[in-house]
Amino acid sequence: MRTFVLRARAAPTDPRKLLAGVGGEAHAEILAHTLMNAFFVAQSHRDDVVAYLVLESTADFSRTVRFEGAAIRGLGGFHEQAWLAKIARALEASAGMGKDERRAVEPGLEVRTQSFERLAAELAVDHALYLMDRKGAPVAGHAFGPRPCFLLTDHIPMPKNSRAGLERLGARTLSLGRTMLFASQCVVLLHHALDQQV
Ligand SMILES: C[S@@+](CC[C@H](N)C(=O)[O-])C[C@H]1O[C@@H](n2cnc3c(N)ncnc32)[C@H](O)[C@@H]1O
Repeated sequence: MRTFVLRARAAPTDPRKLLAGVGGEAHAEILAHTLMNAFFVAQSHRDDVVAYLVLESTADFSRTVRFEGAAIRGLGGFHEQAWLAKIARALEASAGMGKDERRAVEPGLEVRTQSFERLAAELAVDHALYLMDRKGAPVAGHAFGPRPCFLLTDHIPMPKNSRAGLERLGARTLSLGRTMLFASQCVVLLHHALDQQV
């Protein structure tokens, strides 16, 4: 199983703002690109992937949206708009939820009012956490275990205190080279690295 977490600090939890945020400062397109590269291969999709988006531009609580490759149905196309519509449905379903609540939205799609820190702590229990960072250890030659979980951000960097918290959870930093990449590009390279191991 491969798990990706995109901490989207600029992404609105209001579904209308999210959809209006494509190409703007929120860069909502980053979310769709990352999901496309996490799940799609030509003429098929990857069943062995779980992806989490943590949307943090909010008036109340962060929203963690969980996508499960083996269960997702009815995308209606393999384009960005289809993924954004799915995220918006999850956000709509989360309206009025209290802190740390969870709601199933449709097959393979779940939303929680959960912070990035709580999600990371939960995943640390049974995943090997990797914080993706240009200054980390090289990915080449790294032997991954059965449940790697890769932590990425949108265009806003991971705050220092979060990094310290992740270190305490045992997260290791991993680099894909010196070039600053988009999170979605990191996902492609990580799939490639894992595909070589199988
Ligand atoms: C567009 S970058 C973030 C840019 C942001 N301004 C910053 O300084 O972190 C998105 C994410 O991709 C990951 N990333 C980008 N380039 C990488 C690289 N060469 N190696 C490892 N991770 C990388 C990091 O997790 C980063 O947070």
